[in-house]
Amino acid sequence: MSDPVPSYLSPAGDRHFDGLADKFASSLYGGLRGELRLALLDRLLPEMLELHGQPVLEVGGGLGQLAGWFADRGHDVMLCEPAGEMLERAQAQLQGRSVRYLETPLQALPNEAPGPWPLITCHAVLEWLGDPRAAFATLAGLLAPGGQLSLMVFNRDALRLSNVVKGNLEKALADRLEGKGQRKRLTPISPLTHEQITAWAAEAGLEMRATAGVRVFHDYLRQPPQDEVGRETLLELEWRYCRAEPHWRLGRYLLYTLIRPEESSP
Ligand SMILES: C[S@@+](CC[C@H](N)C(=O)[O-])C[C@H]1O[C@@H](n2cnc3c(N)ncnc32)[C@H](O)[C@@H]1O
Repeated sequence: MSDPVPSYLSPAGDRHFDGLADKFASSLYGGLRGELRLALLDRLLPEMLELHGQPVLEVGGGLGQLAGWFADRGHDVMLCEPAGEMLERAQAQLQGRSVRYLETPLQALPNEAPGPWPLITCHAVLEWLGDPRAAFATLAGLLAPGGQLSLMVFNRDALRLSNVVKGNLEKALADRLEGKGQRKRLTPISPLTHEQITAWAAEAGLEMRATAGVRVFHDYLRQPPQDEVGRETLLELEWRYCRAEPHWRLGRYLLYTLIRPEESSP
């Protein structure tokens, strides 16, 4: 008999971030990791997307940083997020901006916000889901013809490399890389590969327009930069190589622009 789904996962087997908001805010966004992620996205998004103030569906919007970025550039944003605790913090951060909120999981969006949408963003969410492939198909189905999906996923290949660098050789050899979503652990339950995203995009009829790696060096450093000059130098290195072969493929996150061709229907 199989084990029952543990209670920290949703009925769909997803890790909603209830109970994780503080840890997520401090350990991901409270330091250099988060600074680099936001600084790189700030440069990459205008290069990788065609932006003209179109409405945005932001899926799994967490603490609201990405919603704020788009709202500040004149987009109306619909932020969906199933964890009430995360949503409250996003609302507090985004007061006065043109953002609407839906306390709902991605799987409910075809009913609750069917669009179709000209621009959907979904960053660092699929790796927290029990069935990321089905979720990818759901996102693809919400895209209007010509619509763009900005997708960022936690890179399984980078997770393997960072485990080896840290000396977790047996774990890497056994390919036991994913987390279990227990307690306050922030290792994703479904880390993803470029091959999976390529295959799912083809299945859904989406074209891969642009790719990048977010943090291609930082997570492998033996010694993090100690001062502002070092941090700026690292950012410039990350920026120079984030779209270059072979470095982008080992970014901690893989960032994609996926397009629904004009002539196809969702
Ligand atoms: C690692 S955080 C990323 C938050 C934000 N997108 C960012 O990049 O900072 C993952 C988020 O996905 C949310 N999430 C988990 N399961 C989800 C689901 N089924 N639908 C939508 N969001 C989900 C979590 O609650 C959490 O806020």
